[in-house]
Amino acid sequence: LDAQGADPFAIAQQAAQQIAELTGVERHDIALTLGSGWAKAADLLGETVATVPATSVIGFSKPALEGHVGTIRSVRLPNGKHALIIGARTHYYEGHGVRRVVHSVRTAAATGASVMVLTNGAGGIRPSWAPGQPVLISDHINLTADSPLEGATFVDLTDLYSLRLRSIAKTVDPSLDEGVYVQFRGPHYETPAEVQMAKTIGGHIVGMSTTLEAIAARQAGMEVLGLSLITNLAAGIQDTPLSHEEVIESGKLAEPVISSLLARVVAQL
Ligand code: 6GU
Repeated sequence: LDAQGADPFAIAQQAAQQIAELTGVERHDIALTLGSGWAKAADLLGETVATVPATSVIGFSKPALEGHVGTIRSVRLPNGKHALIIGARTHYYEGHGVRRVVHSVRTAAATGASVMVLTNGAGGIRPSWAPGQPVLISDHINLTADSPLEGATFVDLTDLYSLRLRSIAKTVDPSLDEGVYVQFRGPHYETPAEVQMAKTIGGHIVGMSTTLEAIAARQAGMEVLGLSLITNLAAGIQDTPLSHEEVIESGKLAEPVISSLLARVVAQL
């Protein structure tokens, strides 16, 4: 992917071919990227057909982070559809460039998936939100100043986080709130002033992933569903300092509940 003249879409095709060979599943219908706190959902979705280490597929690398599993799994859902579960996310802050960040999404599209479910652990700006609460992403603000699109490729991002899919999620859990996800580059958390800025420009959730992947999914013609686990309130909203340990810990505590929610939503997609 980093090679001079490499075509990221051709590499995604190759990765999809390898996944078909390694899993024995020719086509996937839906793909999920499982972020912090969401990994357990993989066990609840259906029957695991195959699990492969992400590193055995071209363009994928070992996860840089604890709480990310590093495997690609093929699951047969109760409705007979095939789900591709990506437990290896490359974050923008790792500094390998956008192509590496969106490779999993382009690969998912190349396996045939028409729905991309993006999940993450994130900070909440609304003081009424509690750590451990899942929130639907209704839209995003991409503050990375970067894009997965190269050259004059103009892609419409109206309804990027599909209203249809959000409605389905809300029929499963009517208490689900939604909010605008603001992606900062990270890997540091925001200052309280930056959190106030995110709030002022219309944001409700702050995180370090998802927006570039969602744009790439839309470019590939997929429908996107985005779900954030609020692992903590953002800096200045909660009065205690943030820590990565806190983020991982709330992820673990919330895991059973949000995994079951995700499984019930995916069953309806
Ligand atoms: Cl407060 N900010 C960002 N950018 N990412 C997070 C977070 C906050 N909490 C969990 N992930």
